[in-house]
Amino acid sequence: MRLLVTGGAGFIGANFVHATVRDRADVAVTVLDSLTYAGSRESLTPVEADIRLVEGDITDAGLVGKLVAESDAVVHFAAETHVDNALADPEPFVRSNVLGTFTILEAVRQHGAGTPIRLHHVSTDEVYGDLPLDDPARFTESSPYNPSSPYSSTKAAADMLVRAWVRSYRVAATISNCSNNYGPYQHVEKFIPRQITNILTGRRPKLYGTGANVRDWIHVDDHNAAVWRILTDGAHGRTYLIGADGERDNLSVLRAILRLMGCGPDEFDHVTDRAGHDLRYAIDPTPLRDELGWRPRHTDFDAGLRATIDWYRTHEAWWRPIKDAVEATYAEREQ
Ligand code: NAD
Ligand code: DAU
Repeated sequence: MRLLVTGGAGFIGANFVHATVRDRADVAVTVLDSLTYAGSRESLTPVEADIRLVEGDITDAGLVGKLVAESDAVVHFAAETHVDNALADPEPFVRSNVLGTFTILEAVRQHGAGTPIRLHHVSTDEVYGDLPLDDPARFTESSPYNPSSPYSSTKAAADMLVRAWVRSYRVAATISNCSNNYGPYQHVEKFIPRQITNILTGRRPKLYGTGANVRDWIHVDDHNAAVWRILTDGAHGRTYLIGADGERDNLSVLRAILRLMGCGPDEFDHVTDRAGHDLRYAIDPTPLRDELGWRPRHTDFDAGLRATIDWYRTHEAWWRPIKDAVEATYAEREQ
């Protein structure tokens, strides 16, 4: 299989490429990534001899068309992904997430007219908005779209484009909406790596609001195993929700990090809450389990968190050069 991976130099995409190179000798991987602040060539260093990395933008129709024409399948991870950045400057989110997805769909439609080119679009549970705290309800495939933030609204728009291209042009696409990922190679702007690297650099962790907001955590390798399962066995046109029964409030996650890193439970600062902060996300992954037989392997959150902390301890060269600038930006926003 000739596989094009967009956003393969980002957090989830890089882990996906590593796993693909390790486990699937029959797959030739091309990564298309514009190496924004969130993309890192170094994240692909362990597999650089095994893949082709093309530095380019998913809104570049000429380049995308050429690469899609050379591919049997496309897994589309590339996006602007950080909610706080979207609140500060939404324009790149509209461009990359909406126009970028449109550009990929048009290339798949055009070049897959004879032999269909398989597309998997990677999306987020945030398209469904949020759920109340202390409520057993979870998101399902039929939950209404109700995005809250500039980030989630652009992902929702992208999902709608994919659905329309499936219906109108019979593009052979699937969609997955996953919950919060954690693991190695995640940018230090995100919650878990931010707190780990704050402690490693002598800063106090920062908690938005009271920390009651709930996220449904999944290890990145479990997300990527589900993506592979959907790519190979998923029904064209279908949406699958990916989650690993990992609901935890932010304060509990932070306290687990503090405990595993030898700090006291109150050694952190409360900072200004995020505007429009979604209360709770929770995924019902039943169809993925029952129809495709997927099961998460990383079910011990403490063990996954410990391994992630160890990764940041031993990969300081990967994150240290960007840490001060990320914290300087946060310091301006959190005053
Ligand atoms: P990330 O921010 O770590 O990486 C995004 C990658 O996309 C980067 O390498 C960046 O350079 C690249 N990119 C951005 N705009 C581009 C453009 N215009 N052209 C080419 N490349 C571009 O993101 P991530 O956390 O790895 O998320 C990957 C995908 O998974 C996204 O679509 C995101 O919406 C989705 N997702 C993420 C999570 C999560 O918890 N991180 C959960 C569910 C879904
Ligand atoms: O649910 C899937 C989504 O998860 C993905 O689509 C997004 O791309 C990804 O960034 C993530 O979005 P969140 O906004 O949930 O993740 P983030 O890591 O930014 O924040 C997780 C929670 O922690 C959230 O409730 C905000 C809070 N938070 C975050 C930061 C950075 C803090 O309390 N302190 C912080 O310093």
